[in-house]
Amino acid sequence: MIKRIGLLTSGGDCQALNATMRGVVKGLSNSVENLEVYGFDDGYKGLIYGKYRMLTAKDFSGILTQGGTILGTSRQPFKLMRVPDEKGLDKVEAMKQTYYKLCLDCLVILGGNGTQKTANLLREEGLNIIHLPKTIDNDIWGTDMTFGFQSALEIATNAIDCIHTTAASHGRVFIVEIMGHKVGSLTLNAGVAGGADVILIPEIPYDINKVAEAIQKRNKAGKRFTILAVAEGAISKEDAELPKKKYKEKLTERVKKYPSVSYEIADQIQAVTGSEVRITVPGHMQRGGEPCAYDRVLSTRIGAGAAQAIMDEEYGIMIGVINGKIKRVPLAECAGKLKMVSPKDQLVKAAKQIGISFGD
Ligand code: F6P
Repeated sequence: MIKRIGLLTSGGDCQALNATMRGVVKGLSNSVENLEVYGFDDGYKGLIYGKYRMLTAKDFSGILTQGGTILGTSRQPFKLMRVPDEKGLDKVEAMKQTYYKLCLDCLVILGGNGTQKTANLLREEGLNIIHLPKTIDNDIWGTDMTFGFQSALEIATNAIDCIHTTAASHGRVFIVEIMGHKVGSLTLNAGVAGGADVILIPEIPYDINKVAEAIQKRNKAGKRFTILAVAEGAISKEDAELPKKKYKEKLTERVKKYPSVSYEIADQIQAVTGSEVRITVPGHMQRGGEPCAYDRVLSTRIGAGAAQAIMDEEYGIMIGVINGKIKRVPLAECAGKLKMVSPKDQLVKAAKQIGISFGD
């Protein structure tokens, strides 16, 4: 059997991209006699501008534990894919030409939501596509888990753990800002794992007075400190009611005063409670370093699942994991959908039950 496959990693990176690509290539090379692998530089950019290199088994050896991506990545917004580049190049046509020039049997695309939408567009254009769900946000519809999430969760939890000792010594209010603009899965899980007292996520808009109440209640109970796990995309009830355009305008104004939502919340808490507030933003550390054991296993399963789908010549799918089983999910079904935290989620319920405030 001869197979020619293309690989690309697109969007924000995460810890288990290399581990996943390793799974795909090792999974194929043990069954396919003649395997050719083309790796595209920096995501869709490499596919558009024909920047690629042929990779061998050696390139996939020793990368299981290596964070980042050996191919490089970049953000190529889906909404601009149909817009010609500065030189008038039709990006979609350019990607198709690269694919056909290399006579690929399949293009394996690792990325998050935006990446998946472009993957689906290429499928609609007739290319054989397999999408592999990467993101520390765990917000891809059609899979219970994305690779990268558990590794980032370890780091975000560790950040809260570290803050605990210093918060207790000084008796301060601490905000730990966790990645996730649209979806609060990482913040919710890290908040619970790290024992945060308040968790603010985009899906549950907060009332700053309720947040202040939670802090005051702890003060009254003799607790010296309060830790808030705040998602990058946390939003107040008031802002959540604004039309999208108005909210965007408000955000444009906000960045002139505050680098992020946490700084605004800190100011408000200080004003209402008089407490001293400190902010910690682990930022891109959450996407860095090596994948945790869970992610290495998940990536290997997803990679092997993709290899099997290629051997079965089944394309136009995402390889997800549902109820612990690797599943082939049609891209037509999942592309463009976001998996958000339901305010009725069992974990939200459990967190509330043990006294964590969501400021709602
Ligand atoms: O999508 C992954 C993610 O890490 C989000 O959690 C975060 O909001 C965003 O990417 C940051 O993007 P960038 O690396 O472009 O700053």
